[in-house]
Amino acid sequence: MIFIQNGRILDPKSKTDVVMDLVIDHGKIIAMESGSKPSEKDLVIDAAGLVVAPGLIDVHVHFRDPGLTYKEDIQTGALAAAKGGFTTVVCMANTKPPVDNPETLEYILSQGRKTGINVLSAAAVTVGMKGSELVNMEELKKRGAVGFTDDGMPILDASLAKRAMDEAARLNVPLSFHEEDPAFIENNGINQGIVSHQLGIGGSPALAEDVMVARDCMLALHTGAVVHIQHISSGNSVRMVRLAKNLGARIVAEVTPHHFSLDETAVLKHGTLAKMNPPLRTELDREEILHGLQDNTIDIIATDHAPHSPEEKSRPLTEAPSGIIGLETSLALGMTNLVHPGHLSLLQLIEKMSLNPARLYSLDKGCLSPGADADIVIFDPNELWTVTEFASKSSNSPFIGERLFGKIKYTICNGKIIYNSF
Ligand code: DOR
Repeated sequence: MIFIQNGRILDPKSKTDVVMDLVIDHGKIIAMESGSKPSEKDLVIDAAGLVVAPGLIDVHVHFRDPGLTYKEDIQTGALAAAKGGFTTVVCMANTKPPVDNPETLEYILSQGRKTGINVLSAAAVTVGMKGSELVNMEELKKRGAVGFTDDGMPILDASLAKRAMDEAARLNVPLSFHEEDPAFIENNGINQGIVSHQLGIGGSPALAEDVMVARDCMLALHTGAVVHIQHISSGNSVRMVRLAKNLGARIVAEVTPHHFSLDETAVLKHGTLAKMNPPLRTELDREEILHGLQDNTIDIIATDHAPHSPEEKSRPLTEAPSGIIGLETSLALGMTNLVHPGHLSLLQLIEKMSLNPARLYSLDKGCLSPGADADIVIFDPNELWTVTEFASKSSNSPFIGERLFGKIKYTICNGKIIYNSF
C-alpha cells in the first residue's frame, strides 16, 4: 500500500481542498482520512506542504508514432507526460500513416499499454486527413478510438463537417476541430499584425480562426454534437464560444499554456520556437482568453504537445514546422501565469487539467475519492524551478531558461509511482 500523508488534497469534483492522508492499494484509492496508520511494509510519502491532485489529463498530444519517431515516440512521449504530472493522454491522428484505419489505431493503443500511463487515441475524421471522405467512425469507435479529429488540418467542407457531427452525435463521441481557414493565411504560425509586419511576412489573421469557430459553433448547435474547439487563440473566438454555449451548443473549448502565457511578440524573442498553429496573438486576445478561463467559457487546458527536431526548427521562420512541446511545462505555466497572479484558483486550474478533460471523453477519472483509480500527481505549488531539460525526444520550447512555480514531485498511475523528482 502507498500512504500519502498530510498532503493538501484537491478534488475538483467534490470541491475538496483539505489536508489529510490518501491511501492506495491495488491501483485504487482506498481511503482519504486523517491519522492513517501505515505498517512497516507500506510505502509512505510525506506530502506535507505539497498538493495531491488527480493525475493530469491531456486531451491533445502528438506522439508522432508511427512514422515520425525521430521527433517523439509513444514511450518518450509517455515519459514526458509522467514528468509533467500527466497520467492520461489522448493522441492526435496526424501520424504517418494517419489514424484513419483500425491497424494504426491498434498499434498506438498496444504501444501505449507498454507505458506507465493511460495512452488513448483519437482517430481521424476524414480518410487520409484529406477533408473529403469520412472515415468509418462506428468501426473505429468500436476498435477503441475515443474521439475524432483531423487536428493540424481544418475541415473546410461545411457539409462534410456537418455530416461528421451528425455521425458523432449518433455515436455519442466528441469531435475535435482545428479551426483555421487557409483562405486567409499567407504564412501560418505567426499572427498577422504588428509582429508579422515588422518581420515583413504575411502571417495568419485571427479572421482565419474566427470564421471557422463561428461556423462550427452553429453546426454544433444544430446537430447537438459535442464539439471540442482545440487551441483557441483569438478573443473573438472566445466570445463566440460563450455565445454558442449560452444558446445551448455542446461546445467544449480548449486553450494551450502557450496561448494563455505568451503573445505574438514572443516570436521576436524566440523565433521558430514561438511558431505554432494557431499562432500566438495579441495581448488583448490573451486577456480575453484569461476572461474565458475565469468564466468557464474555456473548459480545458491542453498542451498540443508538438515535438519537432532541432534541424526542422532551425529552418527560416516561414519554413519551419509549427508547434512546440508542452507536457513538461504545462502545470507550471498554469501555476505561474494563472494561479499565482490570481486569475484562477488552484482548484479551478486542476479542474481544467483533470476533471473537465475526463468529462469530455466520459472517463471515470479526474477526481479523488475512495474507489477511484489511483491516478495522482503530487507537486509543490510554490517551488520555483528553471526549465532546462526534457524527457521528450524533442526540446522545441520557448520556455527553456524560464523560472516557473510548481514542481512535480511524484506522478502515480494505476497505483504505481511512474515518476519522482528525487
Ligand atoms: O502548431 C501545431 N502543430 N498545431 C497543430 O495543430 C498541429 C501541430 C503538429 O502536429 O505539429
